[in-house]
Amino acid sequence: MAQIAVKTHNLTRRFGAFTAVDRINLKIEAGSIYGFLGPNGSGKSTTIRMLCGIISPSEGGGSILGLDLVRDSEPIKTKIGYMSQKFSLYDDLTVRENLEFYAGMYDLFGKKKEERIAAMLSMAGLQDRQNEMTVNLSGGWKQRLALGCSILHHPPILFLDEPTGGVDPKSRRLFWDIIYKLSLDGTTVMVTTHFMDEAEHCDRIGFIYEGALIADNTPDNLKKVIPGILLEIPSPDPMALMQTFQERGLSSLDVYPYGACLHLLVKPEELASYAEYEQRRIEPSLEDVFVHYVKSRRRS
Ligand SMILES: Nc1ncnc2c1ncn2[C@@H]1O[C@H](COP(=O)(O)OP(=O)(O)OP(=O)(O)O)[C@@H](O)[C@H]1O
Ligand SMILES: [Mg+2]
Repeated sequence: MAQIAVKTHNLTRRFGAFTAVDRINLKIEAGSIYGFLGPNGSGKSTTIRMLCGIISPSEGGGSILGLDLVRDSEPIKTKIGYMSQKFSLYDDLTVRENLEFYAGMYDLFGKKKEERIAAMLSMAGLQDRQNEMTVNLSGGWKQRLALGCSILHHPPILFLDEPTGGVDPKSRRLFWDIIYKLSLDGTTVMVTTHFMDEAEHCDRIGFIYEGALIADNTPDNLKKVIPGILLEIPSPDPMALMQTFQERGLSSLDVYPYGACLHLLVKPEELASYAEYEQRRIEPSLEDVFVHYVKSRRRS
């Protein structure tokens, strides 16, 4: 069996009377990419901050490469790279100076330091810009520099908290190319994202909702749990069309707006009653899966 890099047992964090993370059990295989998805405020950053030893759990616990989250929080810091949602670069330092600053934090000196900085400049494509002021870099470059700073010490585990928020699609792709490479080289990556297309490329995905892990599986297996047949019905006014279905008493397993369409989930015997509407049978996306899990949870 593959080695488990990250493991939690009923990991819980409360802020006063509010439970931000509620008894989460995670197991992340070494060398895999684990996507952590959930709406705003669902507890993603709080979970990651506990795993990095920045805040302590209120209850439960976990381990990183066998090191205990609470007892071994200091040695854990040498094993992990962490890129926070508001990544921390010094705007008034040059690209190289930022890397030098982080090298100092990780106790990298001499030849080793030079080698690692050179490797990070090359990874981020920043060799020709190392003397530029960081403030002048665009979002995508800053992000790659921040990644470089967070993995200078070559950590076996990398936590990325919404690393691609607010950057253009090309930069997002470049960033993911780097993530894949790191993963192929054996780094375990846990990444939060709002982008479902990014999540598709993870080995495994956890959905977190109101602090609880409501699903945890491979993207393909998650899609298999959706019952019935999924149809996409284009409409200039999806809400109005939903109302029409209701008024006509048309039954379905589920129906919800999806961009400029309705997504309609039906049992095979319900299919015929929608025959007059333009439609396309589709495979569920991870967004459909998320809707399904959230609704199932609300019903339970
Ligand atoms: N230090 C804190 N004190 C009080 N409440 C907090 C604290 N940190 C987080 N929370 C609350 O805990 C909940 C979970 O927050 P968290 O930042 O983990 O969510 P998130 O899933 O990362 O959201 P986003 O997608 O917006 O980044 C939120 O309701 C937030 O307001
Ligand atoms: Mg967050």
